Amino acid sequence: METGTLNAIKIQKSPKSRISEVDFDHLGFGREFTDHMLVARYTNGTWETPEILPYGQISIYPASSVLHYGQAIFEGMKAHRLQNGGLALFRPDKNFARFNMSAKRMSMPEVPEHVFMEGLKELIKLDANWAPDKEGCSLYIRPVLFGNDSFIGVRTSESYVFFIILCPVGSYYAEPVSVLAMEQYSRAEVGGVGHAKTAGNYAKTLLPVEEAKKKGFKDAMWLGGEGHKYIQEIGTMNVFFVMDGKLYTPEIDGTFLEGVTRESVIQIARDLGHEVVEKKLSIDEVIDFAKKGLLQEAFGTGTAATVHHISRIGYQDFDFSLQPEKHFIGNKIKEELEAIKTNSIPDRHGWLVKI
Ligand code: COI
Repeated sequence: METGTLNAIKIQKSPKSRISEVDFDHLGFGREFTDHMLVARYTNGTWETPEILPYGQISIYPASSVLHYGQAIFEGMKAHRLQNGGLALFRPDKNFARFNMSAKRMSMPEVPEHVFMEGLKELIKLDANWAPDKEGCSLYIRPVLFGNDSFIGVRTSESYVFFIILCPVGSYYAEPVSVLAMEQYSRAEVGGVGHAKTAGNYAKTLLPVEEAKKKGFKDAMWLGGEGHKYIQEIGTMNVFFVMDGKLYTPEIDGTFLEGVTRESVIQIARDLGHEVVEKKLSIDEVIDFAKKGLLQEAFGTGTAATVHHISRIGYQDFDFSLQPEKHFIGNKIKEELEAIKTNSIPDRHGWLVKI
């Protein structure tokens, strides 16, 4: 990993803050952006010193490689207001490592740690007053890297743009989510890019999710592997099932994102004394547990969604309703995770990086 120090970041401040236009009581997710953004360009094998600029448009040519071949990656991270004042990032080292893993898989240059981390911290310091202090709200961080050659041949790009934007956010989903396990669509297979946070992984889910919606579900559950039977993830989240008192989640196999929240939830569940089983998990196995009355809870995990309950699972003729109000294990884990993020309880695993 390249380290180093940053030349002074050039900062061009926004002439007027937009913060007074934002309704912090009804934030939703992903609609409001803070006053500034960080931008760093890569050309001729070198990263230029990043700049902090007023949030605004980034102009690219119609021939820009990202528009044609989708060479783009991103991350989702959060900063939280702490119980006793101040702000902290949650496990930013994990997102940084995954960002550069995604970059490598998509044949892009790694972003140096000092550009990513020091740039991010400077940006957050400048827009710190945008971090919401309401329970369940946070400052969502979206780092992005895209290929920006003005060239229409298919090849690894030579020039790139890296940027970070910040959004004050509330909940990603308004209510517990119903999911339809997709029979005829797949999101990823072994050897592909399912584990990388690349833009196309999300574009390809849009049509299947629209079809799930037409059938009365809110989101999709992705299946893959032999016989197209093995659960990968749901919507934009990793997935957990509580079955016969144990937590089950699909084992990492390179077809889905190795979630930072997933890993944190496994740790917290074990801290709370629960058994967590990471295994190749087929939809048939979950249905068997459900038929025996042993599917007790299901929830998704992700940075945007945190820990989010599943209310219903559909697959072919199987249609099973859960009772999110009785998801005691998922709720306890969610509470514990939120308490750690806001430092309302001790940060026993050293997950917070204070700004
Ligand atoms: C996240 O959970 O941060 C994500 O990136 C998922 C989604 C909003 C695309």
